[in-house]
Amino acid sequence: MDNNNNSIENQPARKKKPTNLLLIPCLLITTSMLLLYLSQNKIILISTTTTTISESDYNHRLGDHSCLGRYIYIHDLPSRFNKDILQDCESISRPKDKTSMCKYIENSGLGPQMSDGDTTDSKYSRSWYATNQFMLEVIFHEKMKRYECLTRNSLLASAIYVPYYAGLDLRRSMQWSCNVSERDAAGKEMFKWIKKQPQWKGLSGKDHFLVTGRISKDFVRHSEDNSSWGTNLLLLPESQNLSFLTIERSPKRHNEFAIPYPTYFHPTSAVEIRQWQDKIKLTNRTVLFSFVGAQRPSINYKGLVRTKVIQQCKNSSKTCRFLDCDVRANICDDPISLMKLLESSVFCLQPPGDSLTRRSVFDSILAGCIPVFFSQGSAYKQYIWHIPNNNSEYSVYIPFKELRKGEKNKIEEILSRIPNEKVVGMRENVIRLVPKIVYTKSNRHKPDGETLEDAFDIAVKEW
Ligand SMILES: *[C@@H]1O[C@H](CO)[C@@H](O)[C@H](O)[C@H]1NC(C)=O
Ligand SMILES: *[C@@H]1O[C@H](CO)[C@@H](O)[C@H](O)[C@H]1NC(C)=O
Ligand SMILES: *[C@@H]1O[C@H](CO)[C@@H](O)[C@H](O)[C@H]1NC(C)=O
Ligand SMILES: *[C@@H]1O[C@H](CO)[C@@H](O)[C@H](O)[C@H]1NC(C)=O
Ligand SMILES: *[C@@H]1O[C@H](CO)[C@@H](O)[C@H](O)[C@H]1NC(C)=O
Ligand SMILES: *[C@@H]1O[C@H](CO)[C@@H](O)[C@H](O)[C@H]1NC(C)=O
Repeated sequence: MDNNNNSIENQPARKKKPTNLLLIPCLLITTSMLLLYLSQNKIILISTTTTTISESDYNHRLGDHSCLGRYIYIHDLPSRFNKDILQDCESISRPKDKTSMCKYIENSGLGPQMSDGDTTDSKYSRSWYATNQFMLEVIFHEKMKRYECLTRNSLLASAIYVPYYAGLDLRRSMQWSCNVSERDAAGKEMFKWIKKQPQWKGLSGKDHFLVTGRISKDFVRHSEDNSSWGTNLLLLPESQNLSFLTIERSPKRHNEFAIPYPTYFHPTSAVEIRQWQDKIKLTNRTVLFSFVGAQRPSINYKGLVRTKVIQQCKNSSKTCRFLDCDVRANICDDPISLMKLLESSVFCLQPPGDSLTRRSVFDSILAGCIPVFFSQGSAYKQYIWHIPNNNSEYSVYIPFKELRKGEKNKIEEILSRIPNEKVVGMRENVIRLVPKIVYTKSNRHKPDGETLEDAFDIAVKEW
């Protein structure tokens, strides 16, 4: 699976706009006629399964023509591709999981709320949840159901969302150690269903997109050997036409786009985000740098980087905190303890792990901790919609060869030499990124009428 580890280093990230915008000019007239029709008849939009948009809300939206060119249609997939997977949530828990996945489905996929039982620290409001990264598929779907420019008329739509929980489905089939054909079956069936829909015929799926909370390599299994990892979803002919929004893209494929991993913070308002930003500006950062993670077998490039990083952190024991998740798993699994360490650190080391990207990158941005990268593929070549390309303004990059030839305290040396004014400026830029990388709670209110784009809004806009 990992034979093309380093390829991500050499590929420029390319962003390809789908061609669907071509449709928009010829639809303008139809759109305004439809709006008139709708407002006279007070038709209420109903999205796929549960959400009903209230009439007043809807009328408000009608007055707002900003939806032109932004309409999205949600495919009404058979429930076996999404809802049923959640209903049978034990099937997506794996023997290694400490907590059943059923817990993480709570609160529209945000997970259990960090209520008073978990923390007496008032800093963590009721908008903090023990969110599991794989739930991004559910979080995105739930947010999409409340998206302000949904349409039931796919002719109006400039994008078509396919709410198939491909990553959770993969988890389900891995648990039973299914043979490859069983594992691949749902993806094939899903496309069989979709290809029969009139929406596919228009642009052969070029206006369709699917969101997954797993890295895209998990869906690129070339071998038919039952023991090899993943499904072949992305190798199917239909997958060449639709787009994938994933937490880690493969730079070789033009139709994959990276979006942030979910964090633990799901605020309901812009005010709440501001308050959080103000708080983390003031925290006392007593630790120069820290690393939260576990060892990886150092057989490949990614493992080697991680081993070096851990050695160096241990050798800089006065300035570096190493939270070893092999030994102290209970702390690594506790969002509040984890956030506290990140909030007390100036820099957070982000070496690759099983893959080049890590959820921790986003947790550390949320904590105002400046990320330190060892691979261009860990963020710079991934999240081009959400993170600016002036990398050195918000992060530190230490190429692996510096570590390999460097002395045993190389990381400490580099980080401690950065002047304080520079550090303060970088941290301000990190904290500025917070709104762009959080997934806000779906029905957020905007008390001051301002629009603050979150990770979801940016993904929908940029795609
Ligand atoms: C995989 O398993 C299914 C059901 O157990 C069986 O019908 C199918 O023949 C198997 N496929 C292969 C390639 O062995
Ligand atoms: C995969 O496993 C099935 C049994 O589940 C077996 O029949 C089949 O021969 C295996 N295929 C390969 C390629 O190993
Ligand atoms: C993908 O799009 C091309 C046109 O660009 C079309 O010829 C092809 O049939 C489409 N593939 C599928 C599986 O629909
Ligand atoms: C940071 O530390 C200083 C001095 O130890 C203390 O006065 C201040 O209250 C602390 N600030 C916070 C936000 O904890
Ligand atoms: C970095 O880029 C962002 C987005 O393009 C911009 O808002 C910001 O001002 C830039 N920072 C600096 C210091 O140039
Ligand atoms: C860290 O220190 C130990 C003992 O002082 C040494 O064996 C090891 O090589 C050092 N690690 C690095 C990365 O230099």
